[in-house]
Amino acid sequence: MRYETMSPTTLDLFADDEPQQTPRREQIGEQSYVLRGFALPLLDRLLPALEAVLLAAPFRQMVTPGGFTMSVALSSCGTLGWTTDRSGYRYTRHDPQTGQPWPAMPPAFFELAQAAAREAGFTDFVPDSCLINRYIPGAKMSLHQDKNEGSYAAPIVSVSLGLPAMFQFGGFERSDKTQRVPLFHGDVVVWGGVDRLRYHGVLPIKDGQHPQLGEQRINFTFRVAG
Ligand code: SIN
Ligand code: FE2
Repeated sequence: MRYETMSPTTLDLFADDEPQQTPRREQIGEQSYVLRGFALPLLDRLLPALEAVLLAAPFRQMVTPGGFTMSVALSSCGTLGWTTDRSGYRYTRHDPQTGQPWPAMPPAFFELAQAAAREAGFTDFVPDSCLINRYIPGAKMSLHQDKNEGSYAAPIVSVSLGLPAMFQFGGFERSDKTQRVPLFHGDVVVWGGVDRLRYHGVLPIKDGQHPQLGEQRINFTFRVAG
């Protein structure tokens, strides 16, 4: 403990102007990290921007190619939005529900994604897509790989807001053992490089009320899709 050698005046760990929650970077794969609380300083800009995006492109539940209605409701912003229907998964420039282009990616979203990628060792991340997932208690995301993108060179940046979730982070086969990583309001997960195609998913969200977001979990997934 190097602090032991410091005088009490130097050891000012709990000064009033210090953030109460120290940001931490946890490694969960060779090129995968959880950045604890990384989104918190930007929340005052993220939440109003999210509200504006959702006015233009409201959450909706989509149908998988197999005919199942997803428990998670989706929206998107950025040039390309991820969609699914009976004919398959794909990225589109227009919101199929409104026929309008997806709302532009708010600057605060872009800045957060780029800064998080940099923190995880991926410089010059320029996402063209932000999928917005809304989970209510009971909603889940089955294990899957993100592989509808034109290239896998860029990482995935995934932001958690609201109710906590248990994130599953697996290997390169669906049947591989998964790590369980609890994710909380403000946490950001980044995976890319050799880990880019790892299976991942979210266990059913537990009942609860988040002080700021209420009875839901919101996830932003930033990608280079085109
Ligand atoms: C996803 O993989 O699309 C969502 C991940 C999450 O909600 O944390
Ligand atoms: Fe995913």
